[in-house]
Amino acid sequence: MLFDHELAWKDPDVYNEVYRTSIEFSEQFWEYHRARLFAESNYNASFNCVDRHAAKNPNKTALVWYGDEFCERREITYIKLLIMVQKIASELLRRGVRKGDSVTICMPMIPESIAAMLACCRIGAIHNVVFSGFSPVALRERVFRSASRMVLTVTSSSRGGKLIPSLKNVLTAIDGLNAEILLLDHVDDFSIDERAVHPTPMDYADSMFTLYTSGSTKEPKRIFHTCGGYQLYSAMTFQYIFDAKESDTYFCTSDIGWITGHSYITYAPLFFGLKSVIFSGTPMYPTGGRYWDIIEREKVSIFYSAPSAIRCLASLGNDMLSNYDFSSLRALGCVGEPMNESAWEWFFNNIGQKRCPIMDTWWQTETGGIMLAPLHNISLQKPCFAAKPFFGVVPDIQNDELVILKKNWPGLSSNFARDDGQIYHTGDKAMRDEDGDFRVLGRIDDVVNISGHRLGTSEVESIVNSLGEIEESAAIGIPHRIKGQALCIFATTTSTLEPEQKESVAREISSRIRQDIGAIAKPDKIVFIPELPKTRSGKIKRNILKIIGEKKKIDYESGDLSSLVNLNCIKDIETAMQRAIKPMV
Ligand code: PRX
Repeated sequence: MLFDHELAWKDPDVYNEVYRTSIEFSEQFWEYHRARLFAESNYNASFNCVDRHAAKNPNKTALVWYGDEFCERREITYIKLLIMVQKIASELLRRGVRKGDSVTICMPMIPESIAAMLACCRIGAIHNVVFSGFSPVALRERVFRSASRMVLTVTSSSRGGKLIPSLKNVLTAIDGLNAEILLLDHVDDFSIDERAVHPTPMDYADSMFTLYTSGSTKEPKRIFHTCGGYQLYSAMTFQYIFDAKESDTYFCTSDIGWITGHSYITYAPLFFGLKSVIFSGTPMYPTGGRYWDIIEREKVSIFYSAPSAIRCLASLGNDMLSNYDFSSLRALGCVGEPMNESAWEWFFNNIGQKRCPIMDTWWQTETGGIMLAPLHNISLQKPCFAAKPFFGVVPDIQNDELVILKKNWPGLSSNFARDDGQIYHTGDKAMRDEDGDFRVLGRIDDVVNISGHRLGTSEVESIVNSLGEIEESAAIGIPHRIKGQALCIFATTTSTLEPEQKESVAREISSRIRQDIGAIAKPDKIVFIPELPKTRSGKIKRNILKIIGEKKKIDYESGDLSSLVNLNCIKDIETAMQRAIKPMV
């Protein structure tokens, strides 16, 4: 199979030709790339991401870490990374962790966290990373349900000027569970066990890691990814879509707590032996110039971030930008939520300086890697369009929903049967323009996307409903200028409440959500209403709540309202919306 790899994601003619080949000769296409990328047929990610480079380029920088303050910086070479990985793997083995065991990782964005993921892979243990911003209750559930007997963490860390007491949170989370803690504050002190010197052989179909993500169900789903298919797909998409090369300096602002941090902070960049920058702070602390300072100092060539962060930084204005040098950049990327035109233009004009294409990449935890992305060619860029399917991916739109017509790309989670004839439902709303380019607009199901974080509304509702004062509730996403969406909760109460009582119940709801999920799920609005809009069959009409939540007018002419039991409830909800409470906790 011969084609120009360099041009496959740049030149539309080459792209079309390669895309057609990838569909018509699907099996050969993947096999060709598998053989090219895994010359040694070794599916241990630790081997692919560390040992290979440590042997060839031991002193090359693998990771550059920046902390909360401008001056905090560490550099880890591939040989140093190998030693860290071997040491953590040794400690896991000494504590009895074996191939196939689940290990939970709850850590900040430091080199040890990446080494911990790779150490699990090294011995064939299945890591289960939990975002360090989740509450102890959410962590406990994920440790318990994944049957992890080991939780990796550090004593504490600092993010955005705030201390995160990781160890304390983990201790609270695992209280009474059959799990122990391995602290990674002083990895240097560990010794290397000879069993960890070489990576454990792994098969293509062996499980590599799991990650919990929210869906329409009450409980988060545990998504499995396998060694071969996942690595093949994440590496390939990275290489083609970002045109990534060993000489690149790459900076992705996500967190290992999410799939982006798995595929495009840990596994794909290290697979190709890149220098990858990681950052454990926030874009706004101590100033809004953190990302730009890092780009200048490290001469970052590829910068991959999220729409919420870009919107937030754009809102600061352009004054400070002239202090920074962006000339090292050649490609930008964003992921996690829909972009909007003004943020896209700002990113393109000011950060990319009209030279760099923006890879608006659409994908999901379940898909393992990028599914839709624009071509590199600047003249073809359309703001907010994720545009083209990756090779082998066959997208379509059915009833407004983006669907993938075949379940046969290698990155698809092993939770789904890899069946050619079945359709993969994304739960996202999308449109396709006259050129056949795709634009993803948001969710069509009961999932809210707050700053790129997926949150199932039924998860929230079950927490709200557990409060004694609450009879029923419905949570929806409402538009938010920076976060994309914010959470709005409508609730009915078991008795009539005075205004002060409402304030106090709202505070209680908010703090309970924070306690059970984490700060990212904090509601922006809580609205007490006499009655939820329901159909005769008892289904909550969420679309009505969405219209009211967005302060839009209800269309009384549409037939949609005819299914309501009580049409009058609409007026009451509209009135209540004006007295929505914004909880401070
Ligand atoms: O709604 C889509 C949105 O994020 C969802 C997937 O979330 P998660 O599994 O946490 O993975 C996020 C990182 C891959 C999708 O169903 N989403 C992701 N990327 C985009 C997006 N929405 C619009 N445009 C995107 N580029």
